[in-house]
Amino acid sequence: TFQPRIFSGIQPSGGLTLGNYLGAIRRFVDMQEENADRGIETLYCMVDQHAITVWQDPAALTRNTRELAAGYIAAGLDPNKSILFNQSQVAAHAQLAWIFNCVARMGWMQRMTQWKDKAGKNQQNASLGLFAYPALMAADILIYHATHVPVGEDQKQHVELTRDIAIKFNHDFGVDFFPVPEPVIEGAATRVMSLRDGARKMSKSDPSDMARINMTDDADAIASKIRKARTDPDALPSEAEGLAERPEARNLVNIYAALSDRSIAEVLTEVGGKQFSEFKPMLSELAVAKLAPISSEMARLMETPDEIDAILRNGADRARTIAAPVLKKTYEIVGM
Ligand code: ADP
Ligand code: NA
Repeated sequence: TFQPRIFSGIQPSGGLTLGNYLGAIRRFVDMQEENADRGIETLYCMVDQHAITVWQDPAALTRNTRELAAGYIAAGLDPNKSILFNQSQVAAHAQLAWIFNCVARMGWMQRMTQWKDKAGKNQQNASLGLFAYPALMAADILIYHATHVPVGEDQKQHVELTRDIAIKFNHDFGVDFFPVPEPVIEGAATRVMSLRDGARKMSKSDPSDMARINMTDDADAIASKIRKARTDPDALPSEAEGLAERPEARNLVNIYAALSDRSIAEVLTEVGGKQFSEFKPMLSELAVAKLAPISSEMARLMETPDEIDAILRNGADRARTIAAPVLKKTYEIVGM
């Protein structure tokens, strides 16, 4: 049995979205608070090596990494309670990923829906890194012997692949060395959808800025995006079943529910029967109220990038201390 340890990461591939916040960061903070006093470590990473699987402008990558760190801290992650760091600063991730590239099978990677979505029709032109991404993610998690991985729904398949890699490594080498980690996916907002297309997830890499709410959007931007969000002409139902065939409507209610820490059913008892012309301003007001304190704190933190860098350096030092013996032992097991 393995001592519980919590790891997750977000790509600094653009500004943080409401999807990242509701699907991931909020849970990171909860898990930090639940575990800090129990001696269970929580590690939260900016996964810059994942970001570069698609082209990133170098200056933007540096800025986005700091902004992501600022978002983590502004949302409640505390560098004294959690280890906050930048993936590329801990070389053991890439070192273990190479070994996992040799454990994982091509067919496993080919089945990943994110690979298919992101590579699109022209797979021959996608980077090799984009294809191998899940093996690096497995290394991110397993280099710390992490047992629990808080993620949004869209990452579930990658955590399952991490489990497959841990099991195959243990089996191939006849050891019980890597834990088989669990995804932690809970709550209403584990999948926040695009404001323009109810079949796509809200993503920082969506080319349309109108499709997402950014953590740094001001009140006017939030209100205008919600006003223009796609919906249907019907009034809101008073029960959740009434949203079954209405993905856009369901998404807005889901966001409202998540922001107010209520279930969709509870929200519908309040707003059932309302038109979107009435509901959308309520949603904007709530989103602004929840996001404004975080975005203003992010802006304040971004004024002192040296302090952010110092926090990340310290986090990387602590992360390296945990990773080093795991890598050493892995090399021994493999015979290197
Ligand atoms: P993005 O797609 O915005 O680049 P990442 O791939 O960096 O996001 O994912 C970071 C974390 O945020 C993951 O745990 C992921 O599941 C979560 N996440 C991303 N988008 C959403 C969303 N639309 N709804 C819920 N969770 C999300
Ligand atoms: Na993503």
